[in-house]
Amino acid sequence: MVSKGTVLFLLFCHGATVSGWLFFSPSEPDPFENDMTKFELYTRLNDDTFSTGTGQAVGKNLKAVTNSNFNASLPTKIFIHGWFGGGWNWYIRDMRRQMLIHEDCNFIEVDWSEESVNINYAEAKLSAQQVGKNTAEFIIWLHDNFGLDYSLVHIIGHSLGGQAAGAAGKYLQNPPIGRISGLDPAQPGFNLTDPSDTLGPEDADFVDVIHTTFVAIKPMGHVDFYPNGGSLGVPALTWIHSHLQAVYIYTESINGHCQFTSYVCESYSKLTNGGCETYCPTARSCNQMGYHASPSGALGSLQLQIREAKPYC
Ligand SMILES: *[C@@H]1O[C@H](CO)[C@@H](O)[C@H](O)[C@H]1NC(C)=O
Ligand SMILES: *[C@@H]1O[C@H](CO)[C@@H](O)[C@H](O)[C@H]1NC(C)=O
Repeated sequence: MVSKGTVLFLLFCHGATVSGWLFFSPSEPDPFENDMTKFELYTRLNDDTFSTGTGQAVGKNLKAVTNSNFNASLPTKIFIHGWFGGGWNWYIRDMRRQMLIHEDCNFIEVDWSEESVNINYAEAKLSAQQVGKNTAEFIIWLHDNFGLDYSLVHIIGHSLGGQAAGAAGKYLQNPPIGRISGLDPAQPGFNLTDPSDTLGPEDADFVDVIHTTFVAIKPMGHVDFYPNGGSLGVPALTWIHSHLQAVYIYTESINGHCQFTSYVCESYSKLTNGGCETYCPTARSCNQMGYHASPSGALGSLQLQIREAKPYC
């Protein structure tokens, strides 16, 4: 259960984000005011790791995108946060920096905090599906107006954002987008036997998933990674922490030195008892958890052992 203090804290942060958005357009009406899904663009030209500048508010607005650093020749990475998340979350900035260090790209942060900060999970769940649809419509619009290549689109979604990514992928089938990475995608409240309701392998050319909490372990991708059995930490005590570990690990995997080599194995206990092959004679024998997961590596449910703190190996 969320304590009163936590709710007040989140509402405070929420307020800060709203004023941040007002700051972007002090004199003219916000062109996206009727749309609760905000898109903020970063490239190497306006990220503080490489240059100066802040995120650029974009959306289905020709002037906004034309005046931004969006470059359709680059891969486009889209991050969608989860329940009670928002643009203020430091772990989004960390991921963006590591991604831009790794490669020049359009990194678009989807901020749906106007709806995600909602104690009513069922409502937040419906909003997440709408966010997915809004994101898909923006992607189609970028394709139609700026020549965005669907195969270069990679959506990374955490928690309910993982399900939003799935909803976006279902909307974008002709052709599908290149990749979706689901970071501990939410499962409570979703019909896990209905492929139209949850993130699944049909939602992109390649779907990779990391599971870090015990409440969300059903496989949902071409490849599903279960670090330490898919339940990090002491879940009853540190549920939020376990849930966020998927994001931290993914960020670490981009440029870090850990290999995160994962193997086909029935269970984590079998892996740690030496009951599974842990060598990699062919590409299909193993895969790398995180950003460097590959569609030509081992697929299905994979196990690996990690340390529970940075750098995780
Ligand atoms: C867009 O990206 C391509 C590929 O990296 C690059 O060659 C080109 O100069 C970029 N365009 C602009 C306007 O920065
Ligand atoms: C879940 O989806 C399955 C398959 O579409 C369907 O048969 C079932 O009735 C659904 N369950 C609920 C609770 O909606």
